[in-house]
Amino acid sequence: MASVNTNMKWIEAASYEEMSKMGAAIFKEQLKQVKTSVFGMATGSTPEGLYKELVKAYEAGELSFAEAKSFNLDEYIGITPENKASYHYFMDENLFAHIDMKRENIHVPAGSSEDIEKTATDYDAAIATAGGIDIQLLGIGVNGHIGFNEPGTAFELGTNVVELTQSTREANQIYFDSIDDVPTHAITMGIQTIMNAKKVVLLISGASKQEAYERLHSGEITTDFPASALHNHKDVTVIYTGVK
Ligand code: PGA
Repeated sequence: MASVNTNMKWIEAASYEEMSKMGAAIFKEQLKQVKTSVFGMATGSTPEGLYKELVKAYEAGELSFAEAKSFNLDEYIGITPENKASYHYFMDENLFAHIDMKRENIHVPAGSSEDIEKTATDYDAAIATAGGIDIQLLGIGVNGHIGFNEPGTAFELGTNVVELTQSTREANQIYFDSIDDVPTHAITMGIQTIMNAKKVVLLISGASKQEAYERLHSGEITTDFPASALHNHKDVTVIYTGVK
C-alpha cells in the first residue's frame, strides 16, 4: 500500500439537502470573491441538489454567473446534445437554462465531434486559456471513477477518450431505454486535468457509495481506484451523507 499523505477535508452532512447546501455555499463564496471564476461541473444524480441551490441563489438575486465560465467533466461519445441522456442536455436542464452564464463561456466536451482526439486536446488547452479551474465539482462512481476515468487509468492523462466499464454502463442505464442504448465510450477530463484544478469539492451520497467511501477514506493510493489520486491534491473537500 502506498504511503498516505492526505490533506482531504471530510465533512459529514445530515442529509442530501444539507450536503447540497454545503457544496453550493463553497461555489457561492468563490463567486462572491471572484466574479470571473472558472467552475468544473459534474453530472449525475449527486450534484442535482447543489445545482438547485445555485439556481435558487441566482433567482433570489444573490449572485450572477455573467462573468463566470464552466467546463464539464465528460460526455458520452456517439450521442448528440439534443439527446436527453447526454450530459449537455442534463446541464441545460439542471443549471445552464436557469442562470445567466453566457453560452460562449459554457463548455461540455463535444462527444459527437468528428475528430474526437483533437476535441480532447483542445479541451485542455481551453481550460488553460481560461486560467485553469478554480473549483472542480466531482461525484464518485461505485467503482471509484471520477469523471469517466475508470479503474486502471493512468493518473497522468489529460482529457481523453475512454471505454466505459460494464458497471458504469449498468449504473447509467436508468437514463436510457435499455443497456444496449448506453454508449460504450466517452470523452473525459483526465485525472491530471482534474488534479490541475485549484480546489476540488467531492460529493458522496447514499448507501450505494458505501464501499467507494470506505476505499477513499482508507487513504490508499492506487490506479485501481481513480478517486484515490485526489489524496495527492492540496485542496479537496469531501462532503458525504448516507454512508458511515
Ligand atoms: P451519480 O454518479 O452521482 O449519479 O451517482 C456519480 C458518478 O458516476 O460519477
